Amino acid sequence: MKRGTDIAAAADVLRHGGLVAFPTETVYGLGADASREDAAAKIFAVKGRPRAHPLIVHLAAGELDGWAAEIPEAARRLVAVAWPGPLTVILKRGPRVALATTGGADTVGLRVPSHPMAQALLRAFGGGVAAPSANRFGAVSPTTADHVVADLGDDVDYVLDGGPCAVGVESTIVDFSRGQPVLLRPGGMPREAIEAIAGPLRAADAGAPAAPGTLASHYAPRAMVVAVEPDELPAAYAEATRADERGRPMYKVALLAPASVLARWDEVPEPTYALPDDVEGMARELYSALRDLDAAGVDVVIAALPPAAGLGEAVGDRLRRAAGPRKA
Ligand code: TXA
Ligand code: MG
Repeated sequence: MKRGTDIAAAADVLRHGGLVAFPTETVYGLGADASREDAAAKIFAVKGRPRAHPLIVHLAAGELDGWAAEIPEAARRLVAVAWPGPLTVILKRGPRVALATTGGADTVGLRVPSHPMAQALLRAFGGGVAAPSANRFGAVSPTTADHVVADLGDDVDYVLDGGPCAVGVESTIVDFSRGQPVLLRPGGMPREAIEAIAGPLRAADAGAPAAPGTLASHYAPRAMVVAVEPDELPAAYAEATRADERGRPMYKVALLAPASVLARWDEVPEPTYALPDDVEGMARELYSALRDLDAAGVDVVIAALPPAAGLGEAVGDRLRRAAGPRKA
């Protein structure tokens, strides 16, 4: 594994069918040539991700010829405003997309990231780059190059280091492939901004095939997460820190909450991670915070849910999923 800022070297790895981890404004991606079956297949092997779970194709610009087969007018209007930026649209798949990339699906997720290093890589490479978040399946997404190296190490050929991600949660995913647009995953572009351009979004219905980002146990750190409204934080903390029969605490418990919520406590217990009060700041620091708490050996994280407006919807979604039932 090499790590650095050499765009030409990274593009060369892609051209040879290799894997490049690269920064986007949302999270780091694990990229491969989206048009090559063998290259896309490597991503699934390294991530330990089920083959049927489709990857997002990243493009340098919004020219979708060959990538999407059909582009509804509302999708056109939306991407004209949103790209480059933290939005993924699901459209009918075009012929340039390898079948392995979409897990055999006849639709494809497309996105134009705004991070300058992602832009430079995509322009130097010239094609589409299939990239999920650069973590092992089911874990918290990486928002720094250090996170990527800790998760994937030598399984990646080149790690482009572009510093910490500015948005911090994954892109918003909107499905335009079956009539009225459906919000598949809240993310870095707020729902309100999307609806102002594309009209009302439908909620993903329970009967739809589960995408990996929509599994209940996704985005989970090692520690157990309990997500509660700010008012319920003290009670949830007291419950988690209760002692066993011999009077010893059963778990190492941490608090994760905005600074203003923590200010209501006379004495903030240790360890505590204070998040910024604005939802943008919360999104930016959330995954780093969960990783830090894991590294501190915390068993249980009691987390305060943010207000649902703006990026708060995505932050709340990730906290609820991190708190979701685990498979094992
Ligand atoms: O911000 C992001 O979107 C990041 C960066 C690297 O761009 N990528 C990311 O990828 O989060 P990943 O693979 O971790 O999550 C992609 C989500 C999955 O839930 C997947 O099921 C959904 O996008 N997806 C991709 N293509 C799809 C399709 N054709 N139909 C339905 N869902 C799709
Ligand atoms: Mg992911």
